[in-house]
Amino acid sequence: MNVVNVVPMPMSSRPPKNPGPPHVTVLKQEVVDAVAPRTGGVYADCTLGAGGHTEAMLAAGAGHVVGFDRDTTAIELAEARLARFEPRFDLVHAPFSHLTEELEALGMDRLDGVIADLGVSSMQIDNPDRGMSFRAAGPIDMRMDRSRGETALELIERVDVDELTEIIGKLGEERRARRVARCIKEAFEAGDLSTTADLRRAVVKAVGPARQGNVDPATRTFQALRIAVNTELHELDDLIDAAADVLRDGGVLAIISFHSLEDRIVKRKLRDDVWKVVTKKPIVPSEEECFKNPRARSAKLRVATRAPRFS
Ligand SMILES: C[S@@+](CC[C@H](N)C(=O)[O-])C[C@H]1O[C@@H](n2cnc3c(N)ncnc32)[C@H](O)[C@@H]1O
Repeated sequence: MNVVNVVPMPMSSRPPKNPGPPHVTVLKQEVVDAVAPRTGGVYADCTLGAGGHTEAMLAAGAGHVVGFDRDTTAIELAEARLARFEPRFDLVHAPFSHLTEELEALGMDRLDGVIADLGVSSMQIDNPDRGMSFRAAGPIDMRMDRSRGETALELIERVDVDELTEIIGKLGEERRARRVARCIKEAFEAGDLSTTADLRRAVVKAVGPARQGNVDPATRTFQALRIAVNTELHELDDLIDAAADVLRDGGVLAIISFHSLEDRIVKRKLRDDVWKVVTKKPIVPSEEECFKNPRARSAKLRVATRAPRFS
């Protein structure tokens, strides 16, 4: 087993000992059924997280799985969880948009399957230190990879109200984006923006405290900033192109998305001639799964196979 690109983090940015509650794998059996792993097959799990899908694929007989994650905490957790399958997996600390180069570096080219379970894990969202949630105060960070890149607070500082409006409007689908952006910038300029609780307060000042159903008024803004900080939509676009390159003819691509911005990209990209769509309608979790794991509620699994290349 190789663990690639993991460099020791400076003490100040080391993950806390307790990485948060474990992540419950969504649509686990459905992903395994879609990919139908086999003994000689090589697969990529582009969103390793706690290793749930990789573990299920290896247990179902996958010959080898390369697991990618941007988060070194995820790599460390998954490494321990998967130890019994050594040496049938490699773990790579890299964004999945680098799929092609990283596989080349491992000496692999054609894969039998590529899976991705998009977004963030429960370990990330429930850990206040990561700054991804408004439920507990933490730094306004939101990076999946804390070893590089700009935090959400740095982004807020860098962009002007117009750019922030665009981010919140497009990536959060927030109707009152301009008002929210203005309140956030005002709070920043007044020195009143250092924690996620401050950020939520600025959003509530703009849109009011009313909840729609169970949804907190800050949900859309937090989603928008997280997507922007991690360039999540570009990553997804690049991943689907890279998968078309690395999959053998007939190889399977399975992607779970959690919101309409992601699902729209997956649906649009899979219309390309290089794909044969397997799921005309997305596979969604059963009522039982949603009951046991409410975070599964919005999951949509789309599956396609690589169309044959003509030589
Ligand atoms: C929903 S969790 C995956 C959970 C996993 N399937 C399991 O069952 O344990 C998503 C994971 O993907 C990682 N991730 C998201 N976008 C990524 C990207 N562009 N490149 C690499 N990792 C990414 C996140 O850091 C997170 O750990």
